Amino acid sequence: MNKVYQEAPSNIAIVKYWGKKGIQEPMNASLSFTMSKSISKIEIQHAHSEEELKIDFLFDGQKKDSFLPKIQDFIKRNEKHLSNITSGILKINSSNTFPHSSGIASSASSMAALAKGLYSINQSIGNEQEYNPQVVSEMARLGSGSASRSTQTGWVLWGKTDELQGSSDHYGIEINNQIHENFHSLQDSILVIRKGAKSVSSTVGHQLMDNHPFKEGRLKQANKNIKKLISALKQGDFKIFTEVCEEEAMSLHALMMSSSPGYTLMAPETLRAIKRINKFRDSNHVPLTYTLDAGPNIHLIYPKEQSKIVHPFIKEHLAPLCEDESVIYDEISMPLQQ
Ligand code: PMV
Repeated sequence: MNKVYQEAPSNIAIVKYWGKKGIQEPMNASLSFTMSKSISKIEIQHAHSEEELKIDFLFDGQKKDSFLPKIQDFIKRNEKHLSNITSGILKINSSNTFPHSSGIASSASSMAALAKGLYSINQSIGNEQEYNPQVVSEMARLGSGSASRSTQTGWVLWGKTDELQGSSDHYGIEINNQIHENFHSLQDSILVIRKGAKSVSSTVGHQLMDNHPFKEGRLKQANKNIKKLISALKQGDFKIFTEVCEEEAMSLHALMMSSSPGYTLMAPETLRAIKRINKFRDSNHVPLTYTLDAGPNIHLIYPKEQSKIVHPFIKEHLAPLCEDESVIYDEISMPLQQ
């Protein structure tokens, strides 16, 4: 019996991946940071036998057969890296440290944890020591695009861009050694405006970009924003960072609204919260910005040293706009040596 334990964080993209080409390759490069407290955990056991591979999947200790087709598909797509687990019994037990449908991307962390776990169990059975982060990120990508940015830590770029040598459409790469210390301790407070499931899956959202009337424009904008963001992160420039962050959040939603069919993913409280954030920032001159995923919830981003002034503002003016006043206080995770 072989056994491994792995975990992977969720991430939030500042420049968004929205639209695919080929086999799960991005239309443009995206850049995100991983989160500290929002983690998927996975324990995998493998019992050897010559029988056809059998998978048992448990989520939070409960059997969840509805997830099996996704896992089987994942294993099939990655079979060239999983040659030691073609038979026997695989027992997978997974859990998240954060609530489901809270605006935190669980597909990114869970697919990244699955990729790390399956890669490790395969290595352990074969007695192989090497850990290749590019292969693991590539495996995760085939489960969920954004998961390619969750197998590593901190600032991770996924997608080929002229702005960064070694960048690839196939896997994410950490760029932490290029990041100014101003961006090493960002706070990410998630305003949970709605707890329910998303009204449109990201799979459908990506597909809608194929024939989107603004596809060319979006590509240009994403390429411009990657360049701007990398430069702001290097310089420690929070003002430029803010410009990119908010333009990307609004574009993602505008692209969804102008798709055919169109989807409005913000809630009225999302817009009310954004107005309050802008007003608070203008009157207090606090470096504070926000981004959105493909849903109504807001990721409020600010440097750690601003927490003293931002937290009372969240409690008084933003939490009342959230479902059950729910706010999740998370922050960036950076590799230990940083
Ligand atoms: O990884 P997917 O297919 O769930 O797509 C993620 C898309 C966004 O979360 C909206 C943006 C991103 O880059 O994470």
